[in-house]
Amino acid sequence: MSGRSQPSEPIRITKNDRQISVVLRSHDSAAQTAPAEPSVAGKPQSQQGQFAEIMKELDRMVGLDNVKELAFEIYALLRIAGMRAEAGLMANTQVYHMVFKGNPGTGKTTVARILAKLLQTMGVLSKGHLVEVERADLVGEYIGHTALKTREMVKKALGGVLFIDEAYSLARGGEKDFGKEAIDTLVKAMEDHKNQFILILAGYSEEMELFLQTNPGLPSRFPIQLDFPDYTVDELMQIAEMMIREREYTLTPATEMKIRQLIVNEKNNLEVSFSNARFVRNLIEKAMRNHAVRLLNQGIAHPSRNELMTIRPEDVKLDRKPVKDAYIP
Ligand SMILES: Nc1ncnc2c1ncn2[C@@H]1O[C@H](COP(=O)(O)OP(=O)(O)OP(=O)(O)O)[C@@H](O)[C@H]1O
Ligand SMILES: [Mg+2]
Repeated sequence: MSGRSQPSEPIRITKNDRQISVVLRSHDSAAQTAPAEPSVAGKPQSQQGQFAEIMKELDRMVGLDNVKELAFEIYALLRIAGMRAEAGLMANTQVYHMVFKGNPGTGKTTVARILAKLLQTMGVLSKGHLVEVERADLVGEYIGHTALKTREMVKKALGGVLFIDEAYSLARGGEKDFGKEAIDTLVKAMEDHKNQFILILAGYSEEMELFLQTNPGLPSRFPIQLDFPDYTVDELMQIAEMMIREREYTLTPATEMKIRQLIVNEKNNLEVSFSNARFVRNLIEKAMRNHAVRLLNQGIAHPSRNELMTIRPEDVKLDRKPVKDAYIP
């Protein structure tokens, strides 16, 4: 169309080294005089700016190709839905309830929070907040208590995402357990409040698979299932570097080597369940504290900018006793 502006700020989502361009027109000055572009799900331009920010936040996360692909699919679907509406075609709604399967620290909560915001800017959710709960928040102590507690949490989540961590634990104890009542209440809430909130069930892969198998009514209600695989050592190093950069610190090459070694040891240690990116975050935050103590102990009144930024190998230590090289059962 002649009056239409060219996009000035395409967002590129990197996927398997391929770049998918998401074209947004929010910061296009020409767009202000040109006829309005079809906005994301009919939302005003300012929300498209927010949308761009959130997409970038997601893209900055290391790995997670399947999540990035899903976000793009939903974006495309809603964008085309807007164009279909303009062409007088039928509007369709989709179900966005999801299951996240993965080990601790693989990004499940972070992704849920980002998706909630994303779906809000795309007009799917009215508020876009995340209510994170676990079994104890849903399951009560006497008959009727569980339904009450669960409904309360659903109410809090309306307009956003209800994220249930270790959701498989609701099936613990079988038929007589109140967890069953929580599941039934959730299923009913999904019917009663269709399109008003998104339910995300999260937990370890095997437990979640078993949970879904033993509750045959559930899988079809959760059409989106995402795997969160353990990060590789290289990905964990990228995450470490990102966290360091964001916090305005730097690592010396020797510090990088030490972090890599600690990650490898911890990943290979069968005595502890490896907590992926959370392990890296804790290691870095501990290193920042050690760095601060080291600088103060040096007694120099004004450490240089470089010293204030540089994490040295001696700052990087595990919080607990170091793991032995090999695990002997
Ligand atoms: N791909 C990633 N890129 C950058 N940072 C990440 C990535 N994945 C996770 N993190 C960071 O690691 C930390 C832990 O992530 P998160 O809490 O989302 O994991 P989780 O899967 O919910 O863990 P749990 O199952 O134990 O609740 C957060 O600080 C998060 O920002
Ligand atoms: Mg979590």
